[in-house]
Amino acid sequence: MSTAKKSYKRITTKSLVEMKANGEKISMLTAYDYTMAKILDTAGIDVILVGDSASNVMAGHETTLPITLNEMIYHASSVVRAIEHCLVVVDLPFGTYQGNSKNALDSAIRIMKESGGHAVKLEGGGEIAESISRILTAGIPVMGHLGLTPQSIYKFGTYTVRAKEEEEANKLIEDAKLLEQLGCFGLVLEKVPAKLAEKVAKSISIPVIGIGAGGGVDGQVLVTHDMLGMTHEFNPRFLRRYLDLHTEMTNAFKGYISDVKSQDFPSEKEQY
Ligand code: KIV
Repeated sequence: MSTAKKSYKRITTKSLVEMKANGEKISMLTAYDYTMAKILDTAGIDVILVGDSASNVMAGHETTLPITLNEMIYHASSVVRAIEHCLVVVDLPFGTYQGNSKNALDSAIRIMKESGGHAVKLEGGGEIAESISRILTAGIPVMGHLGLTPQSIYKFGTYTVRAKEEEEANKLIEDAKLLEQLGCFGLVLEKVPAKLAEKVAKSISIPVIGIGAGGGVDGQVLVTHDMLGMTHEFNPRFLRRYLDLHTEMTNAFKGYISDVKSQDFPSEKEQY
């Protein structure tokens, strides 16, 4: 295993391809606001994904489908204002790119112009090839997303592991190669068997960032609120929790409420 680590002043789509070639794993986490993005960027994250998971995490929707382009632009512009080093990839939300490549281009241009993000991410393979190509012709970098694609949850019916059967696995490999041929700079592979994910990563030269796709890919992404343990109800096998912020925050809030009620806060020193 290589431990090569080149220092990059600013991470670009080219840096990610270079990292893969050098065997350096890519770190990616989500952010939807200025404060979280500032902490992530300062910590040295390679890529911030302004994911449409904001629909669940920030807005409390059951799926990623309801979030709008305007809402994604709001989240992405807050993130972009915070960062100095990392690459910012922004999800195109459901309904803004499927089925109509002109629509896809308009949506991607709005993201780039109004948020200042550096690249867009779209879910799907061959079915959205025309949209991807059209966005790329405008000079906008595109990241793909295959495997479990949450915008298609009503087609799948469940959030279980994808591509366990040969037919779906073969289609996934074909789609990954197609995304590379079209000119995508990378792709996210969500919730697929580790062996298949490794095979995909080895069969293309662009980086494959996994979530629930094992360690044989070129990098990892998690939803930040999940890895910090702020969300409690979501417990997939692939999720490593680095903190239990739900408990920490609940205790802090309880302490504050109690101090206010007992008039312990503010003290003499905490007033003017
Ligand atoms: O929206 C999102 O956060 C994502 C990640 C789960 C990859 O697409």
